[in-house]
Amino acid sequence: MESEEKINILMEHFLQEMNHVSEIRHLETLRIKYLGRKGLLTAHLRSLGSLPQQERPQVGRKINQAKEKMLSLLADKREAIKKASVEDEIRIDVTLPGRPFLLGRKHPITQIREEIEKIFTSMGFQIQEGPDVETDYYNFEALNIPPEHPARDVWDTLYLKTGDKKTKGEFLLRTHTSPVQIRVMEKHSPPLAVIAPGRCYRRDAADSSHSPVFHQVEGFLVDRGIAFSDLKGILVIFVHRMFSSETRLRFRPSFFPFTEPSAEVDIECFVCHGEGCSLCKHSGWLEILGAGMIDPEVFRYVGYGKEYTGFAFGMGVERIALLKYGIDDMRLFYENDLRFLRQF
Ligand code: DAH
Repeated sequence: MESEEKINILMEHFLQEMNHVSEIRHLETLRIKYLGRKGLLTAHLRSLGSLPQQERPQVGRKINQAKEKMLSLLADKREAIKKASVEDEIRIDVTLPGRPFLLGRKHPITQIREEIEKIFTSMGFQIQEGPDVETDYYNFEALNIPPEHPARDVWDTLYLKTGDKKTKGEFLLRTHTSPVQIRVMEKHSPPLAVIAPGRCYRRDAADSSHSPVFHQVEGFLVDRGIAFSDLKGILVIFVHRMFSSETRLRFRPSFFPFTEPSAEVDIECFVCHGEGCSLCKHSGWLEILGAGMIDPEVFRYVGYGKEYTGFAFGMGVERIALLKYGIDDMRLFYENDLRFLRQF
């Protein structure tokens, strides 16, 4: 029959076209072309009325079957395209070179701080921290630093304006980690062996050996019968592990308000081994830390009895890092230049 033949041909065209479709959006175009309001198959449905009466039911059925078939073929094709695209995505070519990803690393200052911590914790010291924002009492007074001491000079200390009349001028950024000694001793009784790493602040302009923000590690040990020789023993072990077991130390008499007696500790210059060079400014020695026996006046502030003695020391982490790595400018640590940082 002529009409039915036309529908068969239309179906074949539809199938051919559909075979070429590879994208979902083209399926919709195809549906509209055949089944839309002005579609090719729809046109047949519309012209049913012009057929002889007896042919209409059969042709009508044929058109409807064709429509159902097209719709179901379109739906199947849609699923097939979807599945193929997912498979494309998860297909892995194992011969492709790997994507490089950059590994982060610890900042050299962090590395040195952790190395210092490791050496002392291996000897039984515990790590404690204190606040960066301190009061005059902890930063100075309880450490036996009187008001006229040069460390309190406004040119060294960064005071905080609190805006509150009652507390105005009381807060400052700690100039050293020594206040942690007071905070820990106030809370705990001896025996104590503590190190306190942390940031410190001073009103200094940045240059090759100064930075307004820098890091210190404080250390102290308090018990009955602690002597200067204990301090010496601990620091010798520290220096030997931090630098080399050959490194010699020198204790020079010095002064700190919170220790009596006080010393500054030098290590033998590892560039010239004591001969004298530009690193050690021709002295043969490099200063690495301040130390001493904790002043009885400090113990009085924290309420410790006379039966206790102890030692304390404080070192600059940047200073140790500069010496250990042979770097001549501290600013390199803060510039975040990857060419510098990647060397550690
Ligand atoms: N707080 C001192 C400073 O910042 C360093 C120091 C010296 C700490 C002697 C100590 C010490 O604990 O005993 O310069």
